[in-house]
Amino acid sequence: KLAQTDIFLLSGHTKIGYALYFYAYSSWSGRAIYMEELYVMPEFRGTGVGKALMSKVLGLAAGCHQLNFTVLNWNKPSVDFYLSQSCFDITATMGYHCLRCEGEALKSPNSTE
Ligand SMILES: CC(C)(COP(=O)(O)OP(=O)(O)OC[C@H]1O[C@@H](n2cnc3c(N)ncnc32)[C@H](O)[C@@H]1OP(=O)(O)O)[C@@H](O)C(=O)NCCC(=O)NCCS
Repeated sequence: KLAQTDIFLLSGHTKIGYALYFYAYSSWSGRAIYMEELYVMPEFRGTGVGKALMSKVLGLAAGCHQLNFTVLNWNKPSVDFYLSQSCFDITATMGYHCLRCEGEALKSPNSTE
């Protein structure tokens, strides 16, 4: 079952960061988690909130073989954060490219909409 879920961390009653993830499936390795977004409010960065959110996502990964996500190549602080959390970059080593289909291309020629 695919479920899209948020995890929020609170400081008092204020949401200070969140992770958005869903379960996915790899034909190579089976059940996986995809993390769509990880965000910490600027004033709370560098205090362990991102690490705490990520460890909550990892805690949900029981039975999964991978946590996958993308990060923009110019976002060096985030790349460095992920590398400090035992993540590794598969772009060059495995030759992955991110591709997308959107807009009109999503409509099937037989669609009635
Ligand atoms: C990336 C982000 C989630 C990190 O969250 P954070 O709360 O600032 O990170 P933490 O304070 O939990 O850092 C935890 C660890 O990462 C390390 N780290 C954090 N930022 C780092 C950086 N720029 N360079 C190197 N290490 C870094 C810390 O040193 C710490 O290591 P330690 O556990 O060994 O002490 C946060 O900066 C953010 O929301 N950025 C903007 C949104 C964004 O770009 N998200 C990613 C989109 S893919």
